[in-house]
Amino acid sequence: MRTPILAGNWKMNKTPTEAVTFVQGLLPALAPYTQLEIVVIPPYTALAGLQTALQGSHVQLGAQDIHDQENGAFTSSIAANMLVGLAEYVIVGHSETRQYLSVTDEKVNAKATLALKYGLKPIIAMGETLEQKQAGQTETVCKNQIIAAFKDIPAEALANIVIAYEPIWAIGTGLNADPALAQSVVAAIRGTVRDLYGDALASTVRIQYGGSVKPENMLEYMGQPDIDGALVGGASLKEADFVALVKLAVQAKGL
Ligand code: PGA
Repeated sequence: MRTPILAGNWKMNKTPTEAVTFVQGLLPALAPYTQLEIVVIPPYTALAGLQTALQGSHVQLGAQDIHDQENGAFTSSIAANMLVGLAEYVIVGHSETRQYLSVTDEKVNAKATLALKYGLKPIIAMGETLEQKQAGQTETVCKNQIIAAFKDIPAEALANIVIAYEPIWAIGTGLNADPALAQSVVAAIRGTVRDLYGDALASTVRIQYGGSVKPENMLEYMGQPDIDGALVGGASLKEADFVALVKLAVQAKGL
């Protein structure tokens, strides 16, 4: 069975102090739910403080991005090796970085490769725009993004990779994808992984849905057979919603 994974992407929200206060409130409620992986993905500046605050809990830490180069003259950027010991996971290819920071499919591949080199687990985010959806291109776009992101990534790395299907039109808009439609796209993404790596690995790789996930729709997403978790933005900033999402994931998967 694939272990579900719920990740809260805080984006550019919460100071280091706010982040620590937030998880201190969260941890007692999350402590019983060890059946799934729970990841908090704060801004970089909160990582060190949260590492201390999370000691002894099963809640893991992730970072929101890394640069596609090992080091160098890239003012403002963070390299993979700078997160070693601070974060377990790192998002690569989030649509906001594709849109605002010119991250291309090739760069997503370079970032995922560097993450793996330094023992970080990439959450490879991908998904179609509204125009691509309306043109009926969703599955083709996702297929091409997966093929590009996994270029030269060896089969043995798959256990350390999570895919996040996030239709861009659903992120932060409240326009969450129909759960059955999300299931069919995620199944197609798994099909592309199958074409690349074979059935055994494709059936073990974890794929999240992301885009306006909230307690009101979580059960429906997690009830889909190919959806193994959620990458959550807005709702992960609220303590009660975060706890509810964890409980609903456990309930939906019968854990
Ligand atoms: P949202 O963001 O839940 O606020 O739509 C999801 C994401 O960007 O990962």
